[in-house]
Amino acid sequence: MRLLTASLTASLALSLLALLPSSVAGQVERTALSEYRAGLMNTLSTHNASLRAIRSGEVSHPDHLLHHARGIDAVTQMLTAVWPEGSGGEGTRASTTIWENGEDFRTKVRALREAAMRLREGAEAGDMGAVDAAMSDVGQTCRACHSDYRTRAN
Ligand code: HEC
Repeated sequence: MRLLTASLTASLALSLLALLPSSVAGQVERTALSEYRAGLMNTLSTHNASLRAIRSGEVSHPDHLLHHARGIDAVTQMLTAVWPEGSGGEGTRASTTIWENGEDFRTKVRALREAAMRLREGAEAGDMGAVDAAMSDVGQTCRACHSDYRTRAN
């Protein structure tokens, strides 16, 4: 009986712990907007990795190339609008310096948008030289922005 009570108490304690907001449990919960942005970013990452696998011949789906290029193009159209003032800092990986250096940040968003358009145009034209050049530009714009404006993962 005492054993049963002890294990009931333990499981009650565990379920109560699960009910606590994650910030109390030591980890800051992400904001909905940050989750949404992460979703867009992860979509970019997936399309990008798929493009690389196709161009390197690792997977033989050259007919998918245009879809991935259009996917990146589509996401970068949404990316311009998801940084309202004050939506960085705690609960996100977005550095608050985004709004201190607004002009530079917008330039970096635009650089990705333009590389994505070149990528889509190259893919539509079937011009693999243009696709490869644009893929490399896309990759550089990701890194350039992250090194300045993305904070470490928790
Ligand atoms: C103009 C700036 C900028 C550009 C360009 C950019 N990112 Fe990001 N990225 C961010 C910021 C800021 C975050 C953190 C967002 C947040 O937590 O709210 C982020 C987060 C991420 C994450 C982490 C998502 C998660 O689960 O937390 C991945 C992956 C990512 N970006 C991939 C990419 C890829 C791939 C590209 C290029 C195709 C790219 N990003 C281009 C600013 C940028």
